[in-house]
Amino acid sequence: MSWKLICIRCGLEWPTQEVRYRCACGGTLDVVLGDGSKLSFEEADRRLMSRGSVDRSGVWRFREWVLPLPSEHIVTKPEGNTNLYSSRRVASYVGLDEVWMKHEGENPTGSFKDRGMTAGVSAARWLGMERVACASTGNTSASMAAYAAQAGMKAFVFVPAGQIAYGKLSQALAYGATTLQIAGDFDDAMRLVEQVSASEGIYLLNSVNPYRIEGQKSIAFEILQDRQWSVPDWIVLPGGNLGNNAAISKGFMELYQAGRIPRLPRIAVVQAEGANPLYRAWTTGRPLQPMRAETLATAIRIGDPVSFDRSMRGLNALNGVVVSVDDAQILDAKAEVDAAGIGAEPASCASIAGLKALVRDGVIGVGQQVVAVLTGHLLKDPDSVVKYHRSEWPGVQCRLANRPRSVGATLPEVLAAIRES
Ligand code: F0G
Repeated sequence: MSWKLICIRCGLEWPTQEVRYRCACGGTLDVVLGDGSKLSFEEADRRLMSRGSVDRSGVWRFREWVLPLPSEHIVTKPEGNTNLYSSRRVASYVGLDEVWMKHEGENPTGSFKDRGMTAGVSAARWLGMERVACASTGNTSASMAAYAAQAGMKAFVFVPAGQIAYGKLSQALAYGATTLQIAGDFDDAMRLVEQVSASEGIYLLNSVNPYRIEGQKSIAFEILQDRQWSVPDWIVLPGGNLGNNAAISKGFMELYQAGRIPRLPRIAVVQAEGANPLYRAWTTGRPLQPMRAETLATAIRIGDPVSFDRSMRGLNALNGVVVSVDDAQILDAKAEVDAAGIGAEPASCASIAGLKALVRDGVIGVGQQVVAVLTGHLLKDPDSVVKYHRSEWPGVQCRLANRPRSVGATLPEVLAAIRES
């Protein structure tokens, strides 16, 4: 196969045929593509017109840049092909003339995780694995359960009990994954799934898996393609376990190193104030200090991110910044994204809350081309929406609350309610 697995910390190479996620030194592994990674922009554009699911996929359309797996191993829905929205309302909210939002909630299972998962499950099939597992705050488990079901694999998901949104829990159950509600937080679930996968020979599909990162890189490629291959000034996205920013940075870095794009965008990673270990390390220059995480954006309630090293590498290469926003800012931004008719889950809207803070602080200026990534669908977490519109979030000013009205089943009462509104 034309790729290598190299430790990002010490540079040691590991055989691709071996099931392995970390180097002996503890560093995570990078897929380094060989010479076969050539793909022209024209060919990537041509594949957009194809009817074949591999060509149509927003991941496998870029397969030479992602992972040159033989097509018989590819498990695809197909994923990607998400919209890049512009909104005047959101632009004015953040203080810019224009802002673009790449809505990864439009993936088949409703989150950006499908891009990494198609690569991870395809690699599992290529390696001959029949059982897969992950720890999750919800979206990874929903995605893995769906792809595993499609591939006929047995799936095990480890979720923190009572801490994942119902839309996501329902997906894992519906797609038939064995769902373990761990009496702990995400970081406990992550530690346990790493141990169990190693001892039971189950293939681990968290973003510590190098192939997940390969698939996830394709967000960078698709943003470029959406923009006729022109590089934006900024990519803004939420950070939890930090796989996504590691992946997007890797995608841009590889195209830049290959001389395919003339410059790199800058990257801004946004964390929730109660779950911001990257922000703390970044601003103090100290090593990662795991923390007990707490935020209502349950998707990013993570205190000990597994892709920390890779994430730092990406931040350094893309002249990145890290910003921290509180839950009230996240919910306020979410209400704006929702009211613009776009809609996304709370963690996704940390992007917009972080962008607003960066514009306020003069880090991002008017006239710059900004793409914010919305990572998950509005319907992933309907409880948070209803709570907001009923003004039931403690300590949050629910400025845009759109209260449901109770009306008797008579015409005069209905007419009165309409006239009042
Ligand atoms: N946004 C959403 C909607 C997520 O589900 C996640 C992560 C993130 C942002 C953060 O991305 O981890 O790559 O930094 N969700 C994981 C999960 C942890 O289990 O679904 P990250």
